[in-house]
Amino acid sequence: MTYALETQSLVKQFGKLTAVAGIDLRIRTGEIYGLLGPNGSGKTTLIRLLTGILKPSGGSVTLLGEKMPNKEVMLDVGYMTQAVALYEDLSVRENVSFFASMCNVTDPERIDEIIDFVEMGDRKKSLVRNLSGGMKRRASLACALVHKPDLLLLDEPTVGIDPTLRVAFWEYFRQAANAGCTVVVSSHVMDEAQRCDRLGFIRSGKLIAEGSYEELIKRAQASSLEEAFLRFASCKVDIS
Ligand SMILES: Nc1ncnc2c1ncn2[C@@H]1O[C@H](COP(=O)(O)OP(=O)(O)OP(=O)(O)O)[C@@H](O)[C@H]1O
Ligand SMILES: [Mg+2]
Repeated sequence: MTYALETQSLVKQFGKLTAVAGIDLRIRTGEIYGLLGPNGSGKTTLIRLLTGILKPSGGSVTLLGEKMPNKEVMLDVGYMTQAVALYEDLSVRENVSFFASMCNVTDPERIDEIIDFVEMGDRKKSLVRNLSGGMKRRASLACALVHKPDLLLLDEPTVGIDPTLRVAFWEYFRQAANAGCTVVVSSHVMDEAQRCDRLGFIRSGKLIAEGSYEELIKRAQASSLEEAFLRFASCKVDIS
């Protein structure tokens, strides 16, 4: 079995605070893997460790068969941050072009195609600072997707996105996965979690439960994923 992403005993400490407390993840190629967990449980920190932006305090990360950090591998990874990370003084198109050029994509048609996909075609000349919150998220997604990555790391990609486009985004994630792209996505939206092949529930920096949507509900003896979430989050399930 080949994995697109593996971590071994991954740990991140910020001073005395342990944000990621020994996580072993194995995510298969072409899988959509959802990260769930309460605010502050360590999802963003885990994703930042995966990208190599944060240096682990312990353990290791392997992406697409290569030990991280590795700049070459990042050319095949698309990363969408939780907080919008765009150049506010540049237009949408300039931002997407910039991220594309970092990944050696120079085809102007590809840049326009991905801007159209996120339905920003009519705002491509707008400065990012003049966009609405949801539009900034759309532009961020275009930057993460422009180079057709093999691995997508998406930190709450649909926050602030209207329902129509949210559905379109998930259809795209599924299409990408069907074509062999691996997608790791954090979310607090339970109907999005249902669209994942597998879910990992993180609490206090630990991966406390893993499985399909149905398996997690069963494991928590809950009747919905929301109820399972509440039980996992409040230690009401025996995870030993
Ligand atoms: N750079 C940092 N310095 C110090 N502490 C940090 C830093 N980044 C994150 N933390 C802490 O690590 C813990 C995990 O934060 P993280 O952002 O990973 O949570 P999260 O699961 O993504 O939460 P949310 O659902 O709110 O996005 C929190 O206690 C947070 O305050
Ligand atoms: Mg987060």
